Amino acid sequence: MKHFSLSKAVFMAASLALLGLTVANAQEKFSPVIVIHGGTSGLDLTKEEFKIREEPMKKALLAGQAVLEKGGSAMDAVTAAIMVLEDDPNFNAGKGAVFTSDGFNELDASIMDGSTKKAGAVAMARHIKNPILGARLVMDKTWHTLVAGEGADKLAKENGLEMVDQKYFFTQFRYDALQKAKEKQKLLLDSEKAKKTSLNLHERPYLGTVGAIALDKNGNLAAATSTGGMTNKMTGRIGDSPIIGSGTYADNDSVAVSCTGTGDIYMRV
Ligand code: GLY
Repeated sequence: MKHFSLSKAVFMAASLALLGLTVANAQEKFSPVIVIHGGTSGLDLTKEEFKIREEPMKKALLAGQAVLEKGGSAMDAVTAAIMVLEDDPNFNAGKGAVFTSDGFNELDASIMDGSTKKAGAVAMARHIKNPILGARLVMDKTWHTLVAGEGADKLAKENGLEMVDQKYFFTQFRYDALQKAKEKQKLLLDSEKAKKTSLNLHERPYLGTVGAIALDKNGNLAAATSTGGMTNKMTGRIGDSPIIGSGTYADNDSVAVSCTGTGDIYMRV
């Protein structure tokens, strides 16, 4: 079994999907694979930022790999990998989620099983410590695919998931990023100043959405994605990450994909 370095992992989500297709068509014995990403901004991280993220990325890969090595399912492998990244403050998912314009943390996550094409997602969850478990709950325990807001938190609580106060999601650097984004927004309202400032309102706003895709020994594919969304997003804004077919997709006959980037743009296509 192979895992990939952080720099490669950032690029590889779509490639694994192609690998899955090739192997499935050949009807060969399946060699389990897991690939993760830690967000689009992996492409322009400084050395220091890269280093901070490298260890948790490895830990997440190893968590997913351990599941696959024991003969576990692709679904369990991607869940295990995502949970590690959700618990790490350096990624924009779970603990390290970015802030909405009103200072809330609203979390989106989804998961899809390529063997059954069942899927589950939560959006705008405010109190689920590991939103990926909320997504899995929607898939396993309801006949719905996406549950949002208070309903998602209620479902998670009723089913015994670990719930946390909004304070749990506070990180100083995300809070500072919100202040910076707000300041830029103000500047843009003043046309003279706007000329002198960057039009990129939300500098690297999506730093650290996380995703995982896996192929297990039975040839089953799974994909999962978790995010806090974008800094200074409107409270109530939902991105691509909890949308099946946009942020996440898995189908044994074709691909497993987890996306990262500005969801408002690419969820339209
Ligand atoms: N891709 C994450 C988001 O746009 O919310």
